[in-house]
Amino acid sequence: MGIIPVLSVMLNVDYSGKGRVLNGVCLDLAPGEILGLVGQSGSGKSTLALSILRLLSFKGGSDSGSILFRGNELLGASEKQMRKLRGNQISLVLQSPLASLNPSMRIGRQLFEAWGAHSNENGAATIMETLRQVNLPTDEAFLNRYPRQLSVGLAQRVLIAMAVLHRPAVLLADEPTSALDALTQASILDLFRKVNREYGTAMLFVSHDLLAVASLCHRIAILHEGQIVETGTPREIFETPRHEYTRTLVNAIPTLRFETPERVQV
Ligand SMILES: Nc1ncnc2c1ncn2[C@@H]1O[C@H](COP(=O)(O)OP(=O)(O)OP(=O)(O)O)[C@@H](O)[C@H]1O
Ligand SMILES: [Mg+2]
Repeated sequence: MGIIPVLSVMLNVDYSGKGRVLNGVCLDLAPGEILGLVGQSGSGKSTLALSILRLLSFKGGSDSGSILFRGNELLGASEKQMRKLRGNQISLVLQSPLASLNPSMRIGRQLFEAWGAHSNENGAATIMETLRQVNLPTDEAFLNRYPRQLSVGLAQRVLIAMAVLHRPAVLLADEPTSALDALTQASILDLFRKVNREYGTAMLFVSHDLLAVASLCHRIAILHEGQIVETGTPREIFETPRHEYTRTLVNAIPTLRFETPERVQV
């Protein structure tokens, strides 16, 4: 018997005036799996994440198909039902953490509010434990900081802590490392690995960075012209890509060369 996916998607999405953006996109996410979704800018990656969270209508998009989360159809779910899931069983981490955090609220308070949105119990112990897990301080001075007093890397850690507070079954990460420098990016990728290992969180990791995705994900899905054209392990994608578009992507990865360009004579 196969593993029952925690999330199973079959989707069409249209934007009014723009037409079809996703055309029969099929994805299965196994429990505890990290699935990379790679596609070029404008291919519809964020659209897919928004559709899963049932937030697409706020952007003027409409979708059809099926989104099964733990066997339950989300496509017909009410806003009330979705509010119970978002940030609780399905979380989202976005590219720019400073835009995702409330600039006028201390981060401690934001963490407690994120806890209180889905639980009446005292969350202090869980919040502190989660902060330690993501290698953040737990002292009062830190909790009293405002988002602007954090580096982007620290802010992304806060956001990830917030996203996993309720130990979601699925974490959607939309280009979560694209705004970070190389070293910070590496440490945040490490953090996603740790969260996946410690909590067993399944992740849909959206990125245009095939290399970052290959170092993190169990499987990679390639999105092109509204469809998933290929899915495979990082090794399969890199060594035996089947679709021409995948080959183009793999070949476009820069390799380190030391060919000094000739200087222009001025
Ligand atoms: N609100 C909207 N109304 C109309 N078209 C939209 C809207 N939002 C996105 N689109 C279009 O849908 C397509 C997919 O957009 P989307 O943001 O999902 O792409 P993406 O893969 O996330 O790109 P990026 O890598 O740049 O984040 C694009 O052509 C975009 O212009
Ligand atoms: Mg996007």
